[in-house]
Amino acid sequence: MKALAVSPGKKHSAHIAELPTPTLADAPAPRKGVVVRTLQVGVDATDAEIDEALYGRAPKGYDFLVLGHEVFGVVEEVGPDVTHVKPGDYCTCTVRRPGPTLFDLIGRNDITGHEEYYERGINLLHGFMTEKFVDDAEFVVKVPEGLKHLGVLSEPASVCAKAIAQAYLAQQRLQVWEPKLAFVTGAGQIGLLTTMMLRLRGLQVYTLARTPNPGLKEEIVKAYGATYVSTAERPVEQLVKEVGKPDLIVEATGSSQVAFECMRYLNINGALVWTSVTGGGKSIGEFPADQVNLEWVLGNKLLVGSVNGNRHHFAAGLADLALSETMFPGVTQRILTTPVDGFGDPKKIMRLLREDKAALKVYVDVSK
Ligand code: BGC
Ligand code: ZN
Repeated sequence: MKALAVSPGKKHSAHIAELPTPTLADAPAPRKGVVVRTLQVGVDATDAEIDEALYGRAPKGYDFLVLGHEVFGVVEEVGPDVTHVKPGDYCTCTVRRPGPTLFDLIGRNDITGHEEYYERGINLLHGFMTEKFVDDAEFVVKVPEGLKHLGVLSEPASVCAKAIAQAYLAQQRLQVWEPKLAFVTGAGQIGLLTTMMLRLRGLQVYTLARTPNPGLKEEIVKAYGATYVSTAERPVEQLVKEVGKPDLIVEATGSSQVAFECMRYLNINGALVWTSVTGGGKSIGEFPADQVNLEWVLGNKLLVGSVNGNRHHFAAGLADLALSETMFPGVTQRILTTPVDGFGDPKKIMRLLREDKAALKVYVDVSK
């Protein structure tokens, strides 16, 4: 079968590769295996950075890496020990696979203690941009029929659900934490889905991004009951003067500079969650380090990095997607701006990902 792959280490190498069609026998433990036919695969900045050769490694024994870590599919076949999905069910699949640490053994591979991480479509494991894939039932998550129109957002939703859950868990250090005001930086898929999830939790949300005339992004933010702020027109300092310092900031711009800048605006006892994976090599020159350090110490502030999501975060993300359909009907599907018919033209997919400013979300319809 065909697959969309890159040659890790080589810039702009996206191409079509050939792999044997997987069967149940190829599952790590065939009795617990699930064969899935791929329906849709979303692509994001991580895929673009892998194609830029900033990171991404091929599985052992291969000189290519199959891309795709945001998958929506339909179960084709299951091993005899599988009970939570059956043929015909819609599903998604988690990205990370266990390493050797205690966290991995208890199902928390999302916080593995190992430097080397194994992620399908990203690092050391082939991804889902194929006609079919097989995996262990443990990593296959059922998508309710009523959410099939949002199924391809399951993985990004899991990343947001984890980021928010981490903040609330870590803030138990305060004994009481009732955040009222949140800033979300970035209005890509992670920023928008996080905005939705924080609105579901009743926070007042400002979603900050650079774009001055964002059109659709602003409409989506508004429809979630949040406020879009173009930092080109209304700098963060000014916003803070007007609305106060936020109790929670979720950073999702993809810029390490913005991630550090956010430290200047967090409220006393607040939490800042970093989610941007920045593959580059930038440094920051003029950062007011003394002042920020002083404020963070005197204000008991928290910074937490959050990456990936395990099956429980997928379930939490899907639950929020379902709730959002009752609170904000029809809004989330507006994120899905840019379908591509099949992955036969890898260059086109990468071009859309990099250059199409109107594309909020590029995703591939792999099969019907
Ligand atoms: C993916 C995560 C992954 C992270 C780091 C993100 O794009 O959505 O699942 O853990 O990249 O590789
Ligand atoms: Zn991703």
